[in-house]
Amino acid sequence: MGGRRYVTGNWKMHTSRAEAVALASGVVAQLQQVPAWDPDVVRVGLAPPFPFLEAVRDAVAGHPVELVAQDCHAEPRGAFTGWVSAPMLASVGVRRVIVGHSERRQHAGEDDALVRRKLEAALEAGLDPVVCVGEQLAERDAGRHEAVVEAQARGALEGLDPAAYARVVVAYEPVWAIGTGRTATPEQAGTMHRFIGGLLASFGPQAAGVPVIYGGSVKPDNIDGLARQDGIAGALVGGASLEAGSFVQIVRGVAEQARAGARS
Ligand code: 13P
Repeated sequence: MGGRRYVTGNWKMHTSRAEAVALASGVVAQLQQVPAWDPDVVRVGLAPPFPFLEAVRDAVAGHPVELVAQDCHAEPRGAFTGWVSAPMLASVGVRRVIVGHSERRQHAGEDDALVRRKLEAALEAGLDPVVCVGEQLAERDAGRHEAVVEAQARGALEGLDPAAYARVVVAYEPVWAIGTGRTATPEQAGTMHRFIGGLLASFGPQAAGVPVIYGGSVKPDNIDGLARQDGIAGALVGGASLEAGSFVQIVRGVAEQARAGARS
């Protein structure tokens, strides 16, 4: 599979400021030891907690590592105590923003309509969105995973301005695989990625090119099998991104598969 890949570390609500800086510095230092990594082919992103965005931005300055935010509000400003808007994130150097993460759907009650508004707010502010979709365990057990993910993807992405699709990344994160150590098998993930890819293609030719990355217990020892699957364009990494060595190993896995894919 050709095309650009993405590996983003979602640090969630982890790290102190000092730990965030050390982690970001460790990532950029170790990335230099990965000969297979071409930053133009594999985009590497770090998504620290909001208060540490600028510190992480400074720690990666001069390196081809993107600053990513974990969420944004749907409005650009207003009386929304405690929230952070997309233009605010853009103003501190954020390049991309995650919207619709399952933890926000679950703990902050976000629905597909709100995810769509956040996505549009991100695009409007010049941030490229990473849209998360994924089914819960009961939904998979009931055989409803495709229907659930289809509704989420349609809600977030159907009928966008065609040019916007070039800026979007979709992350398929089955909820049952997040933080559980129980990753989807490469076959399960690959099947869903190809399903999502087909659905996106039905939204128009530009949407057919949207990369779909996988998230859910991605580790150095399972990335090769995942990255080898047709339709898996990288990884959104939680727990394993909190340690520079394991995160960079995952980048290495994706970079090596990208190279192998480009050769075949
Ligand atoms: P884990 O890698 O810890 O399962 O988290 C995945 C995730 O939610 C990334 O956004």
